[in-house]
Amino acid sequence: MKHLTLLSWVSLACVAACGTAEPETFSVIPSPNQITVQAGSYDLKGAAFFVDAAVPEKAKNAIEEFRVQLGTVTGKQSKTVSDEASAAVKFVVDGTLADEEYTLDVTGEGVRAAASSDNGFLFAVQTIKQMLPVEVYVNAKSSKAMVLPCVSIQDKPRFKYRGLHLDPCRHFFSIEETKKILDLMAIYKLNVLHWHLTEDQGWRMEIKQYPRLTEVSAYRNGTMINKEWGSNDGIRHGGFYTQEEMKDVVAYADKLGITVIPEIDLPGHMVAALTAYPELGCTGGPYEVWTRWGVAEDVLCVGKEETFTFLENVLTEMLDIFPSEYIHIGGDECPKVRWEKCPDCQKRIKALGLRDHDGHTAEQYLQSYVTARIQKFLNDKGRKIIGWDEILEGELAEGATVMSWRGTQGGIQAASHGFDAIMTPSSEGYYFDYYQSHETDKEPLGIGGYAPIEKVYAYEPFKGIPDDATGHILGVQANVWTEYIATPEHLEYMILPRLAALSEVQWCNADNKDFTRFDAALNHSVKIYDELGYTYCKDHWGVIGLPGSEQPARTPEELEAWLAEQKD
Ligand code: ACM
Ligand code: ZN
Repeated sequence: MKHLTLLSWVSLACVAACGTAEPETFSVIPSPNQITVQAGSYDLKGAAFFVDAAVPEKAKNAIEEFRVQLGTVTGKQSKTVSDEASAAVKFVVDGTLADEEYTLDVTGEGVRAAASSDNGFLFAVQTIKQMLPVEVYVNAKSSKAMVLPCVSIQDKPRFKYRGLHLDPCRHFFSIEETKKILDLMAIYKLNVLHWHLTEDQGWRMEIKQYPRLTEVSAYRNGTMINKEWGSNDGIRHGGFYTQEEMKDVVAYADKLGITVIPEIDLPGHMVAALTAYPELGCTGGPYEVWTRWGVAEDVLCVGKEETFTFLENVLTEMLDIFPSEYIHIGGDECPKVRWEKCPDCQKRIKALGLRDHDGHTAEQYLQSYVTARIQKFLNDKGRKIIGWDEILEGELAEGATVMSWRGTQGGIQAASHGFDAIMTPSSEGYYFDYYQSHETDKEPLGIGGYAPIEKVYAYEPFKGIPDDATGHILGVQANVWTEYIATPEHLEYMILPRLAALSEVQWCNADNKDFTRFDAALNHSVKIYDELGYTYCKDHWGVIGLPGSEQPARTPEELEAWLAEQKD
């Protein structure tokens, strides 16, 4: 429940106008779940900091970074003091608070933040920063006063899994750009980057035991042009991340309170790997790293033991790089046509006694066998699996988590059968490669669909989930597939501002969501994007297109006429 007592949002403007120091904003996204706004404000310039010795190390570092940056922005460095009584900005441990929970009290005398975990403190700092002028995000002296409104906040997330998925395979994105996206995620208190690292069109992970994965599988001979199937731009495309670079991303994310969950998509979406190691396919190839989009019929041959040796060796190196509790093993879009004809796969089906039953084919049960075998391998190493919702086809072993992408049905089915689920439903706009407006002639290329910010905001993750199964919904994620996204500007355009809406669905209690309040707060977010140099979609404000090709949106009448024209 959100409380907004004493003063309404509107009268907060009066506090700003009437007080001696003037807080510029109270526009925090995701909105804290309990807020009491009071009269008055506190100017952070030169304020002495106190950090409880029991505050965990990562949080201590983040608070220290904030203190130093605040000094740069205000032009007056504040001290750190060792006695709480003489400090104005206090960070203290409160063991009664849950993981990721924090409280924040701003009075005329100062600031007091409490938490029991790293993320609790990190989120308190993020909330403080969003309450300040956007110049706080930049390491440079500002003429703006860093003044906070007096407020009392008690805040914790609705969901423990708050993810964003990135696909650097269809188009490669640098480590620098990946970090820039992580910075955004941190502002909005997301805590998982689901990094989709293998695909038909490119393999992005250095695996030392299989050097051809980066020599061969990481590159493709061109890319289809726009949506012209059969075309090829003739430009070699690719790239990969070294193990050191991936570890650097993991460490960077960790500092921000974000876990990186890597995905190896298996047994389908493997053409790039097969190109380097054709003996792992059913036909033996030759294969070519795909230059077009879609679902490939060539998948791993799971009749051969060598395939499992390969997967286990790759996974072993992955586990060294990624300490996450979960490893995503894909499982989506794995056609069975090769397995139906392959003597090795058929031999395994026979040996396992698999047969068509209960609406699933023997080959679907063969995929269940693969999932269970990889799951056991990872469980034995202390890790858990996540798979796309196709892993529900056939049988699923206890302990697997299902990522519901083909609508909400997979999540509903999983939760109803006692499996944990993460909701990423394309049907609800959680595919950020979908268009943000109807005016697709003015938008940069999208895969299709229609997912405006209002739709993303409106999604209720418990919709359709039986009451006694909602505990299995770990959280929510949006997916950014990049078939049609080739530049950092376009990537950011597809993510922003929808990421803000996503964050409220992930963080805010259902009765704390309010699109009107969110919409007003978004104006402050947009200033953050401008200050930090992010590209974002302005459809919501009547302008469509990437920088350099922006056009005004049609009026509702013009849009209706244009849409009718498209149907003709
Ligand atoms: C997916 O979009 N193929 C998970
Ligand atoms: Zn086979």
